[in-house]
Amino acid sequence: MSDIIRSKKNYYTDNRRRNIEMNNRITELLGIEKPIISAAMTWVTSAEFVAAVSNAGGMGVLGPNAGQTEAASSPEDMADRLTKEIHKVRELTNKPFAVNYIFPMGGASEDPFTNAVFEVLIKENVKNVIAIGTEVVESEMRRLKEHNVNVVYRDLSPTVEKLLDAEKSGVDALIVTGYEAGGHMSEYKISTLSLVPQVTSKVKIPVIAAGGIIDGRGARAAFSMGAEGVYMGTRFIATKENPASIETKKAIINVKSEEFIEFKSGQGHLRTIPTEAGKKALELINQGKSDEAYKYYGNGFKIGMLDGDLINGTISVSESAGGIQQILTCQEVVDEIFNSIN
Ligand SMILES: Cc1cc2nc3c(=O)[nH]c(=O)nc-3n(C[C@H](O)[C@H](O)[C@H](O)COP(=O)(O)O)c2cc1C
Repeated sequence: MSDIIRSKKNYYTDNRRRNIEMNNRITELLGIEKPIISAAMTWVTSAEFVAAVSNAGGMGVLGPNAGQTEAASSPEDMADRLTKEIHKVRELTNKPFAVNYIFPMGGASEDPFTNAVFEVLIKENVKNVIAIGTEVVESEMRRLKEHNVNVVYRDLSPTVEKLLDAEKSGVDALIVTGYEAGGHMSEYKISTLSLVPQVTSKVKIPVIAAGGIIDGRGARAAFSMGAEGVYMGTRFIATKENPASIETKKAIINVKSEEFIEFKSGQGHLRTIPTEAGKKALELINQGKSDEAYKYYGNGFKIGMLDGDLINGTISVSESAGGIQQILTCQEVVDEIFNSIN
């Protein structure tokens, strides 16, 4: 009898947990079915890729230079290209998506590129932004909220204190990024496993976990630490729809976690597959020649990740890349994760 009561209890607890995971504060805020979000990544997002993630029930995010093969020549040119990319997303899906928004660094309120993106967001009635920065800029928050834009904030070097401040400034949700992440990493070497539970036990707004999550097992861990969504870059680069070169995708499949090199970049740290450019940058940084090193990694993502030049570019991904075995479709990635958390 007591066994029956116990298993009934488990049944109800499990079901309650399921409902929370299926329909939680993140899915409600963003208007999506599954709390699985592909990260904003410079050069390696596009309308086709973003729409594929959104059509799979998650949410795609247009990153800087989305769908482009060369840099914009001015804020106006960038706004024009972003507008076209948003239109393309809308031709491919009627599901929600987001745009990356970069808060001016150091609290400055005027940046022509930020202003250009802002104008596009409002004109195009974009509902969700993934805002990044070293702090939440009050004037930016005010103007986004005046237009009812959902602001999901990702601090570039997150700490519990900084995220408590971000919560006070009125952001709708937080992305908490651990040091395992791809791209420019935090200046603090705090892992996802360490940081996410510290943040979820302090803040009241919903938290999305990022950094090193590549499958349902990682997503389950994130959810058990109190996260209500996952935000993934590296796993989504190695998908069929991602615009990264096939060489980049193969490099991700082939790399072992112990092979990466890492150096302090202008902003935080950078981890890369040891390409010639990456090795040269590391060598120069070790000699104290940071400016010279920048020449090797500064435009590295475009050359390495988009163009697939594994000699002159950098391939900056999560250390979890060692666990990625296959190039999948976005639908397959989203389904595997959703089935694990659901
Ligand atoms: C190649 C690459 C480029 C990135 N560029 C950006 C960017 O332009 N803006 C941004 O907000 N985050 C950027 N990121 C960080 C991602 O948004 C995300 O935080 C990170 O990929 C999550 O970690 P994961 O790669 O372990 O999933 C980039 C990440 C990668 C791998």
